[in-house]
Amino acid sequence: MSRVALVTGASRGIGAAIAAALAEAGNRVAVGYASNREPAEKLAADIGGLAVAIEVTDPVSIEAAFTHIESTWGKVEVLVNNAGVTDDGLALRMGAEQWRHVLATNLDGAFNVTTRALTGMVRSRYGRIVNVGSVAGLTGSAGQVNYAAAKSGLVGLTRSLARELGSRHVTCNVVAPGPIATDMTAALSEERQTQLAAQVPLGRMGTPEEVAAVVAFLCSDQAAYVTGAVIPVDGGLGMGH
Ligand SMILES: NC(=O)c1ccc[n+]([C@@H]2O[C@H](COP(=O)([O-])OP(=O)(O)OC[C@H]3O[C@@H](n4cnc5c(N)ncnc54)[C@H](OP(=O)(O)O)[C@@H]3O)[C@@H](O)[C@H]2O)c1
Repeated sequence: MSRVALVTGASRGIGAAIAAALAEAGNRVAVGYASNREPAEKLAADIGGLAVAIEVTDPVSIEAAFTHIESTWGKVEVLVNNAGVTDDGLALRMGAEQWRHVLATNLDGAFNVTTRALTGMVRSRYGRIVNVGSVAGLTGSAGQVNYAAAKSGLVGLTRSLARELGSRHVTCNVVAPGPIATDMTAALSEERQTQLAAQVPLGRMGTPEEVAAVVAFLCSDQAAYVTGAVIPVDGGLGMGH
């Protein structure tokens, strides 16, 4: 069934792959971007979607994005909170701004966009919400107290929403990727990337498409009985957590 979907942070990386997979599955996809408009517009043109500026920390931008989507296609029925950033450093040296910036985007951002989408979903008695977490939110990660706390917070947010919204047929799940080859991991030193891949039982980084396939399933009508789940796509890295 053709649903109206919004993916935040879909200008590149995992978000772009998710937008493409949702379009492939027959959805009308709003390709959210913060600063990289051109690649978002190109992707939207390729998949018959709509490029939409959505800065997840800014309520005004969120409202404008939803108004744009609703006036074009109607209510958002499928939401993927994928926008995320890292700003790594040891806790001993982490300033309040470095902490707040990462929490604001990864956790507050998901809350801001989700609450805007919820009214429509509850009224329609249908919704799919997928939050892109991280294995770091389950296992912890040295040098990432801010990021791991934000991603862990997404699990609590997701499971609480799943309980609140079950009776309205709105599902809410987390996909928790391990190291995936995108700009985010390309920013790490080659040595760190090799180290990370070596810790993964499958012995390599994952691809954005491998994450997108799982997200697309959770966003489908077929996933109606899956809610409050945390699904790892991590090559086995977080096994047992
Ligand atoms: N790569 C990994 O190894 C990995 C592992 C686990 C989890 N994840 C999670 O997967 C998600 C995507 O990661 P990625 O590797 O694809 O990252 P990426 O290549 O760095 O892309 C990040 C995306 O988020 C958007 N974004 C950043 N800040 C934003 C904001 N304030 N408002 C709206 N959009 C914003 C960017 O938009 P613009 O380009 O327009 O600025 C971009 O589209 C993130 O939540 C990340 O934490 C990634």
